[in-house]
Formats: sequence, C-alpha cells, structure tokens
Amino acid sequence: MLTPPPLSLYVHLPWCVRKCPYCDFNSHEGKGALPFADYVDALVRDLDQDLPLAWGRSVHSVFFGGGTPSLFPADQVDRFLQAASSRLRFSPGAEITLETNPGTAEHGRFEDYRRAGVNRISFGIQSFDDGCLQRLGRIHDGAQAERAVKLAQDAGLDNLNLDLMYALPGQDLVMAEHDLDRAFALQPAHLSHYQLTLEPNTVFFARPPAGLPDQDGAWDIQERCQLRLAQAGFEQYEVSAYARPGRQCRHNLNYWRFGDYLGIGAGAHGKLTLGAGQQIVRRWKVRHPTAYLASAGTAQGIGGHETIEPARRPFEFMLNALRLNQGFALADFEAWTGLVRADIGAALDAAVARGWLHEAGGRVVPTELGRRFTNDVVALFMER
Ligand SMILES: C[S@@+](CC[C@H](N)C(=O)[O-])C[C@H]1O[C@@H](n2cnc3c(N)ncnc32)[C@H](O)[C@@H]1O
Ligand code: SF4
Repeated sequence: MLTPPPLSLYVHLPWCVRKCPYCDFNSHEGKGALPFADYVDALVRDLDQDLPLAWGRSVHSVFFGGGTPSLFPADQVDRFLQAASSRLRFSPGAEITLETNPGTAEHGRFEDYRRAGVNRISFGIQSFDDGCLQRLGRIHDGAQAERAVKLAQDAGLDNLNLDLMYALPGQDLVMAEHDLDRAFALQPAHLSHYQLTLEPNTVFFARPPAGLPDQDGAWDIQERCQLRLAQAGFEQYEVSAYARPGRQCRHNLNYWRFGDYLGIGAGAHGKLTLGAGQQIVRRWKVRHPTAYLASAGTAQGIGGHETIEPARRPFEFMLNALRLNQGFALADFEAWTGLVRADIGAALDAAVARGWLHEAGGRVVPTELGRRFTNDVVALFMER
C-alpha cells in the first residue's frame, strides 16, 4: 500500500552574475535588469497549477536553489513565501533554505531574508584560496566569502551550510585542508564537500583546466578531509554532506529518502505520490527562463512527465537511499514504494552476501565496502 512520504517544495531561481566554467546547473548569466517580480508571478502561477497534486498535505521544507537565489531582492522572496504559505500548509518550524553566492551578499539583505521566513542559508564558497577561486571563474575572493558568512550570522541566521569543492585546478592536499580550516573557523552547522567533476556541456569539459589533481591525488584529499571533518565534529551522513548533530539538511534528506517534492521554477523537477491513484509521478518544467516566464502555469510550461512504475521503484529508491550512511528503514521502503521486502529480496540478499549491505533491526545500511561501490550496489536493484 503506497503511503505519501513527507512533502518538500523546491523553487528554482535561474540567474547568476556570471556562468562558472564547471557548472552544468540550469543557470544563466543575467543580462541587464532581471524580471524578478515577473518571475515571482510566474512561480505563483506554476504553484497554482501543481497544487491539486498536493491537496491537504503539509510542506516540511522549502529550498530556493539556483542559479543564484541571493540575486533576488528579499521583498520578492517574501512575496513568494507569503503566496506559497497561503496556498499550502507549512509545518511548524519548516526548514527554509536560500542558496547564496558570497559575491552577492550585501549588508542588510540577510536580515530581510530572515524576516521573510528564510531560516537556513547555503553558501557557495567552493574554496577560500584566491588563486583557486580565480581559476574557477568565481566572482568573489576568500575574504569576501568570510565576510558574507559573518553578515548572515550577524543577522541572526545560525543554520548555515558552506559548499566547498576539492580536487581543484592547482590545489594540493595542504591547500584543501587549509580550506577546511577556514571553514571550521566560521563555525557552520553544515558542510558540503564535493569533488569537482567535469560535467558535459561545460567550459571545463571542453577544455579541462591545467593542474587538476590525478585520481590518487583526489583520493588522498578526500580521505584526509573526511578525517578532518570528523575530528571537527561534522558527521558524514551522505556521500558529500557533513553536519553537526541534529543539523542535517532536512530538505536534501527528504530527496535522498525518496520523499515527495513539488518543483517550481524554470527546469524544476517534482516527484509526487498520488495516494488515491496509487501512483508515483515525476514532472518537470520548461528549462529556459524566457520560455518559462511565458508559459508557467499553462500546459506549455510543463516540460514533461512520467509515471514511476512499480518495477522501476526499487532502483529509483536505492539510487539515493544508498548514498546515506544510515541507509533506510524497510518500513519506509515499503510505505513509499508500495512494494514489500520480498520484491527486492534477491537483490538485497546478494548485496548482503557480497558484504555491501548490512540488514538488521528493520534497517538496511551500506557497509564501508558498499559505500565505495555504490553504483554496483544500486545496479543490483535495476529493473530486469
Ligand atoms: C547551485 S550551486 C550553489 C549556489 C551558487 N550558485 C554558487 O555557486 O555560489 C550548488 C553547488 O554545487 C556544487 N557544484 C556545482 N558544479 C559542480 C561540479 N562541476 N562539481 C562539483 N560540485 C559542483 C558547488 O559547490 C555549488 O555551490
Ligand atoms: S554561481 Fe553557482 S549556479 Fe551560478 S554558474 Fe556558478 S556554480 Fe553555477
């Protein structure tokens, strides 16, 4: 029996000051005056169109992602949150995150975001090293990044995430550790630590930058940084996510646990369980901001949709759940996929026999070996 999991709301804000050469997100260099108010109107039309998919349900988290959401003035963020909370029930203490590029942080802005209801800020720091930041094409330096974080703290925001990337062009182990030291000094609640990847359709993919660490070099950085993060009190709970106790990102946890989410904004993806019809559906919006502005809330604004049939649900579930250090509860798997353990019994037993997964007390947890071979473990659950 399919039971709807917790519901989140993702809101995509697609513009950036400048496109970074490594980035494959749906982000666009903003030219001239950006149509912030028109975009918020489009978001509300888009949300109105999706509302029947989420009738009567509470929203546990909201995430403004990008792009660079911090380009949006606080009064527009406020306008959207007011419109959203008058249409959907926000659960008390809902986590509301806004992604911020430190190059867009201005005095006073964080206070206004906080007043609008934002209670978590995720900073795209990448590195504190000015040489690395330049090679990454970032619009800020290390000192600016530190100042931005302090501005948010002064405004009373204490639930902060810092995104760092490692294995950067020209970076060695000592430099990567130094980035962590500067991050620790700011006492964030959460750190995301991503290995730089060369994504297709980016400038770095077409012309890889000089000085990238080789595989062994990247592995050394990862191992050493994992240890340093643990020593500093950050518990790893997902491949790239580390948090102080109780400060995991609830929004991302919901994605990783096969939770439901409405996806509002250009190119945003949503996943919803329709209890009455015993269906799980995905749908996404048109990608380009101009096309989105023109079509949000109409049939043309829907980029596509699909149903996740029962045979594909184990793979889709494992794809994210096995990235989590704590794995998942079998009861959640059963409720949120509408399947039973017997449907994945053969794959589960094979993974346990190979030492990739551990099953006890109703939970399935990846072992250290399993975490090293996540793709192989997930492949066992593919539809046959
Ligand atoms: C949408 S961006 C975050 C906010 C904001 N746009 C910024 O960059 O400051 C999400 C994060 O993904 C990470 N990221 C983006 N491209 C990446 C890549 N090619 N490899 C690894 N991490 C990447 C970065 O750490 C980035 O902060
Ligand atoms: S600022 Fe963030 S979203 Fe924008 S291009 Fe750079 S990494 Fe991508």
